[in-house]
Amino acid sequence: MTARPDSTLQPGEQPAASLPAPVSEGFSDEALETFSRSHVHIVDTMNRLRVLPMQLAQRGLDDGVRASAVAIHRFFNDAVLEHHDEEERELFPSLAHSAGRGDEAALVGSLIARLAREHREIESLWDRIEPGLRRLSRGRPAPLDERAIEQIVALYVAHAAFEESAVLPLAACILKSGDRAALALGLAMRRTPYRINAYI
Ligand SMILES: [Fe+2]
Ligand SMILES: [Fe+2]
Repeated sequence: MTARPDSTLQPGEQPAASLPAPVSEGFSDEALETFSRSHVHIVDTMNRLRVLPMQLAQRGLDDGVRASAVAIHRFFNDAVLEHHDEEERELFPSLAHSAGRGDEAALVGSLIARLAREHREIESLWDRIEPGLRRLSRGRPAPLDERAIEQIVALYVAHAAFEESAVLPLAACILKSGDRAALALGLAMRRTPYRINAYI
């Protein structure tokens, strides 16, 4: 994903955010690639959310603005919250287990604490944005919390960039084969319509 050149921007419009270039040609691990692909989709959605207040002010609640509200609202509730849960329940425990003890364990522990704290900050900002977005998605006029939108976009772009540049490369480096397999299985089970725990 690349940002548009500044010459295409409308007055007052900020350039679209983008993730840093991958450290390598991608991860050889499919599970880590899954997280990386999610970040691209999330940053795309943040860029869409960032321009929504201006579109609403300029065009009113037309079909395009409503379609954006529907797509952003659905994507955040379905995919972004699930992404946080996958990281916290699958990726972070695998990382912590592979890190073992000592300095590496302390580093991984502090990274996990930081990322989980940022997830909670993002989710509390979403709680301020979601009611207005839900009303717009149903075709009903509503104000958008523009300050919360600015904050969530900035925080999420920085959060995803940090995970891309520091956390996923670290995982690619230190994940042991058993933890790598557990991570892959955990993600696969989340994507099957028949979860094992539905039967036990
Ligand atoms: Fe995250
Ligand atoms: Fe992430």
